[in-house]
Amino acid sequence: RSKMTLSALRQMANSKVPISVITAYDYPTALLAESCGADMVLVGDSLSQVALGHSSTTEITLDEMIHHAKIVTRGCKSAFVFADMPFGSFEVSVEQGVRNAIRMVKESGIDGLKIEGGLEIIPLVKKLTEIGIPVMAHIGLQPQRATFLSGYLVQGKTAESAFEVYNVARAMQNAGAFGLLVEAVPRRLGRKITEDVDILTIGIGAGDATSGQVLVVTDVLGVYAPDQDDVFTAGTVPAQEQEQERAEIESATMLALDDVKLPLPAASTSNGSAESA
Ligand code: KIV
Ligand code: NA
Repeated sequence: RSKMTLSALRQMANSKVPISVITAYDYPTALLAESCGADMVLVGDSLSQVALGHSSTTEITLDEMIHHAKIVTRGCKSAFVFADMPFGSFEVSVEQGVRNAIRMVKESGIDGLKIEGGLEIIPLVKKLTEIGIPVMAHIGLQPQRATFLSGYLVQGKTAESAFEVYNVARAMQNAGAFGLLVEAVPRRLGRKITEDVDILTIGIGAGDATSGQVLVVTDVLGVYAPDQDDVFTAGTVPAQEQEQERAEIESATMLALDDVKLPLPAASTSNGSAESA
């Protein structure tokens, strides 16, 4: 296979060829992802929990992310490799974010970055785009804020919060993001965003209408279960429970989306002020 490019990914999205994304954290998981033919490989900061044993993504450092990203790029010759900007590496200022983004790219050889956030990261997304670093914006549930949110909870369940996620999606496209990682939102919101933006949408718990799906490799393998006796049962939520939760979430959003006219995002997001917050 030849090296995956952004234009090839865009073409896949446009022609509705599903884009497969999986996380990798080290050489064996990188080789596994590559040999399975993943289109994109994410060095996610989930590495903090699933590969390093921390209880949160907030504990991983920039140096640790760079170390692991460098190793993953050694194993992935054709997948598009991108990595998370870890918590604390970009929030202080655009300058801090740009410096650390450059370190990530320069020292690890990755192809792009993923950054969690809302309108407050727009100036950084713009700046990185201007200097030629591809950015995927991670919207919906943002695990770096799990404590603030009181858990890993589905986002966009009410009309108001769905609009908020939708507006952030549009603003990220305007700022130059090459894609959106949409986590834990109702299917209808995942679909609406995918219909209304021209950039890739990669979903995890965002329904089946996104341009692609991302999975955490240890979930696929069922080998991450710090609170369970038997790691081999990890990730096996009974189908009936899954179906029930999905139905509850969908009914909670019945009024939210298709029937309501969605407002366009603010015309100018260049100063990054949270006009629609
Ligand atoms: O860190 C991670 O693994 C992620 C997920 C959304 C795949 O960001
Ligand atoms: Na992540």
